Formats: sequence, C-alpha cells, structure tokens
Amino acid sequence: MSVGIDEISFYTSNYFLDLKTLAQVQGTDPDKYYTGIGQEKMGMAAPDEDVVTMAANAALPLVEGEGRDQVRTLMFATETGIDQSKAAGIYVHRLLGLNDNCRVVEMKQACYSATAALQMACALVARKPDSKVLVIASDIARYDLDTPGEATQGCGAVAMMISANPRLVSIDPEVGNYTEDVMDFWRPNYRSTALVDGKYSTKIYLKALKKAWDHFREVSPLDFSDFSHFCYHLPFSRMAQKAHQQLVRHTKAGLSAEEQERQINKTLMYNRTIGNSYTASMYIGLTSLLENTDADLSGKRIGFFSYGSGCVGEFFSGTVVPGYRDALHLQRHRDMLAARQEISHDEYLQLYRNQIPDDGGEHRFDEGTTGHFRLAGISHHKREYVPR
Ligand code: HMG
Repeated sequence: MSVGIDEISFYTSNYFLDLKTLAQVQGTDPDKYYTGIGQEKMGMAAPDEDVVTMAANAALPLVEGEGRDQVRTLMFATETGIDQSKAAGIYVHRLLGLNDNCRVVEMKQACYSATAALQMACALVARKPDSKVLVIASDIARYDLDTPGEATQGCGAVAMMISANPRLVSIDPEVGNYTEDVMDFWRPNYRSTALVDGKYSTKIYLKALKKAWDHFREVSPLDFSDFSHFCYHLPFSRMAQKAHQQLVRHTKAGLSAEEQERQINKTLMYNRTIGNSYTASMYIGLTSLLENTDADLSGKRIGFFSYGSGCVGEFFSGTVVPGYRDALHLQRHRDMLAARQEISHDEYLQLYRNQIPDDGGEHRFDEGTTGHFRLAGISHHKREYVPR
C-alpha cells in the first residue's frame, strides 16, 4: 500500500501588485525583481480575507464530492496565526461541514510546518488506511515597507487530501532532516510583520539543504540521478534556482544549465505571480509542476526540499502516480489566476495597512474577496466567517 497526496488545490487572493509598479515607485530597476529575484507579481489579501478564508477556499473543491466523512483529521499549518489558543482549522472545519468526529490541530514552524503536517498525516493514514487527513497550509507573507523583503510578500493557501493509494503523488517514508537554532527570520508575538536578516537567511537555507540532503542519503537508497524533478521551498523563484545549482554541485551530478533548469522551471510558474505564501509555497510549486508539464510525469520521482526559518530543513521524495492528470484542478486554478485584478500602489498601501480592529467593538468589513468564504466582521473579539 502506498500513502500520499490524493488531491491538491490552492487559493490566492484576487488582488495583486505588479512588481514593476513597486519598482517604479521605489526608483528601482524592475529587472531586479523580474530577473534578480525571479518574481513578477505579489498577491495581496482583500480586507475580508485571512488565513481561515483562504484555507477554506483552497479546501472546498476537495470536500465537495464524496469522502468528506472520511476526513478524520484536519491539520492546519500556518505562521500567520489569528489566535494564540484556538486552532484556525476549527473555523475551517465548520465552513467545510466536516464530520464532528474529525480532530483539528494547528501546526507552526515557519515555512516548514506543512511538511511536518504531511509527514504526520501519512503516518496516520498508514495506521488506518481507510481514513483521510486534510492538510491545509495558509499564510500571508508580510515584511516592513521599504525593506528588501517588501518585494517578496504574497499570500496563498493549499489543501491536500492525504490517503492510502493516492491518485497524485505517493510519498516515501525516508526523510533527511536538519535543525539549527538560528535567527534568520522570525516574527515575535507583538509584531504583524516579520523581521529578517535577508542575506543570512539565504545562506542558512542553502546550508540546511546540503545538510538535509546528506542525511537523506544516509537513510534512503535514492541518489540524485533517481530524481526527474525537484520542488523547493519558494520564498522567491531565484532561491530555488540557487538551491538547485548548489545541490547539483554538491552531488557532482554534472548537469548542464538547461538540464538543471528543466528539473525545476515548471515548479516556479504559479509562485512567480503569487509571491511567497510561506508554508503553502512548496506545495503550490508542486501543483504548478503537475499542471504545467506537458510530458507525462507518471512514475517520475520528485525530490522535495522544505525549509522553515529558525530553522528546520527536510529533504524527502515522492513518485507521481499514473493517471494523476484526472485528479488535478487545473482549469479552476488557471481561471482563478486569470481573473485576478491588478491594483495600484495606493491600493496596495491601503490593503497593506488594513488591520483587524482589536478594540472589542463591532466592525463590518468591506467586500473584496471573490472567494466562496469571507470574513464578514469582528464583534467582541470574535471573527465572523460566512459563505459569500
Ligand atoms: P536585496 O538585498 O534587495 O537584493 O534582497 P540584492 O541586491 O541581493 O539583489 C537580489 C538579486 O537581484 C541579486 O542576484 C542581484 O544581483 C540581482 P544574486 O546575486 O542573488 O544572484 N539584481 C538584478 N538583476 C537584474 N537586473 C537588475 C538587478 N539588480 C539586482 N537591475 C533578499 C534580496 C533575498 C535578501 C530580500 O528579498 C529579502 O530579505 N527577502 C526576504 C527573506 C527571504 O526570502 N529569504 C529567503 C531564504 S529564508 C526562507 O526561505 C524562509 C522564509 O520563506 C520564511 C519562513 O520560513 O517562514 C522567508
């Protein structure tokens, strides 16, 4: 019996800022963003959306058909938590109409936590193969204005149904891990934006990749040549290109620049226009690979490098299942991305400065999202989520 990803669906806001607009206002060469960091657009959350509405919007297509009652656990991975105590997934559980007997938990370790959730979900399903686990990752990436991180913001959520004999990607049990206590990127509880030592964070990312790969090689019989494609954590797409160059060097794989590019370029397509979605980003990258590769990927092995600042890195592997195309939500994703609305720099600042009131009063939020679920308001510190 294999265990892995049976279905995958993502959501991002209907608003985006083109990084050319940001560059123009800053007096920066737009090529620094388009080529230097490899990003074109960044998603900006509407005033009536947060990680809960994005998560529910991502997961809705996975529970609309049969199988809702088989979901025994919902794991919600985020570093954009809305409450120090209550798990954001409990709101999603209600919005999706999941079974009362489904457990819900929230997980955090920067951009890595969706991978922890995926691995734990696989272990749960291996123990009880007739059950399913819904893994959702949802984040809004926010940096201070006028900092190098500003151009790497974004937002998005991804939902994955984990099951026995999955239709998309079976996940191997061997993993390579690396953990080190570092301060490359963090967000203390009293801040709404992250603090980051940008250049240092890219160095630590690359170090964690090397270390996690070395550990993977100790525990897995697989070598570099067993992989046809690689999915990396995607804070910005140039990061994945740098990471892959390093892995090719480290493993002495001797690939040409074109061969290296072929192994990762389709994973970057969606993220280039969504931006960093933290823990969702690598799995949006996987969706991009599966949905945008013309060649049949059936039976091909994919290497995954998941990284969460602070830091935890994990290298693991999976194999694409024959017939995977029938289980994709390709048209829905393409339609959603095509229907997004470009915003001006002033509108971007308005959305950026939008804060959930914390005075305990009664507040209604303007309609902005085109998703199925919205955050209608807040009253006595309770967020109110409704279908649109
Ligand atoms: P910066 O310092 O403004 O950029 O910010 P730079 O000056 O280093 O330029 C970036 C690249 O653009 C360089 O290329 C330039 O040469 C090039 P490189 O040397 O890297 O190959 N460039 C140009 N190219 C073409 N035309 C031009 C031009 N000008 C310059 N005109 C930095 C870069 C990444 C530091 C910044 O964006 C940042 O701080 N980002 C946030 C932190 C981040 O994303 N770190 C990534 C690793 S950590 C991680 O992935 C975890 C994370 O997702 C959080 C979590 O785990 O929760 C962040």
